[in-house]
Amino acid sequence: MGHPIPDRLKEMAGSDQQHWNQRYLAGEFGFREPDPFVMETHKNYLEPLLLESDAPDAHTGLDLAGGAGHHAIWLMQQGWRMTLADWSEPALEIAKEKAAANSLPLEIVQGTALDVVTQSAQRERRFGFVLVSFFLDRAVLPWLPKILIHGGILLYRTYTEDNERLGNPRGPRNPEHLLRSQELLEVYRGMRILHYNETVAKKGVAELIAQQPLSSP
Ligand SMILES: C[S@@+](CC[C@H](N)C(=O)[O-])C[C@H]1O[C@@H](n2cnc3c(N)ncnc32)[C@H](O)[C@@H]1O
Repeated sequence: MGHPIPDRLKEMAGSDQQHWNQRYLAGEFGFREPDPFVMETHKNYLEPLLLESDAPDAHTGLDLAGGAGHHAIWLMQQGWRMTLADWSEPALEIAKEKAAANSLPLEIVQGTALDVVTQSAQRERRFGFVLVSFFLDRAVLPWLPKILIHGGILLYRTYTEDNERLGNPRGPRNPEHLLRSQELLEVYRGMRILHYNETVAKKGVAELIAQQPLSSP
């Protein structure tokens, strides 16, 4: 019979800004430890490829739809200048407090992910690293390479269509927020793919690490 109606309604409402605000206010989402995958990406790709670089903006990062900022703040503690963007004010309030408590000059931007990336591109603002973790708006995808410096790194990680079939109770149900198999590889085929994986047991999650070419073609 699939999922009970309340769960389904809850997931359908998951794309709604108000709903996200309520989840943060209720403490359902909040500040937590950084994901080990983000930490490994830092060690294996960001440190060797970017931290040594003297290119302008090489040490800047954007955590898009980054919620309460647990990744952005951890990355700042590793030496990055970070911008955290999300549409949820309660989420950003948590991040602001954490950053202040750690004396970290985190830049916070409230807005839709699409507005943030299109405005960055229009202003030619580019980052060394863009992180998107458990968020999907397909309209955003083609903009991400445009806001990376030459040699900049993209880490994209979120649920795939396999997730519901595999019975994982976590994650969205709306196909608009679920990646198709190999979709990230298709969208980012112009980039150097450093890592790609899709989990197909117990949960469906795709993870991509890709690098912008070092110079314009
Ligand atoms: C599942 S949480 C992931 C948070 C964080 N990236 C992480 O990995 O823990 C999804 C986040 O996306 C934000 N969000 C959802 N739709 C958005 C949109 N269209 N524009 C900006 N933020 C959005 C929500 O407010 C929420 O903080």
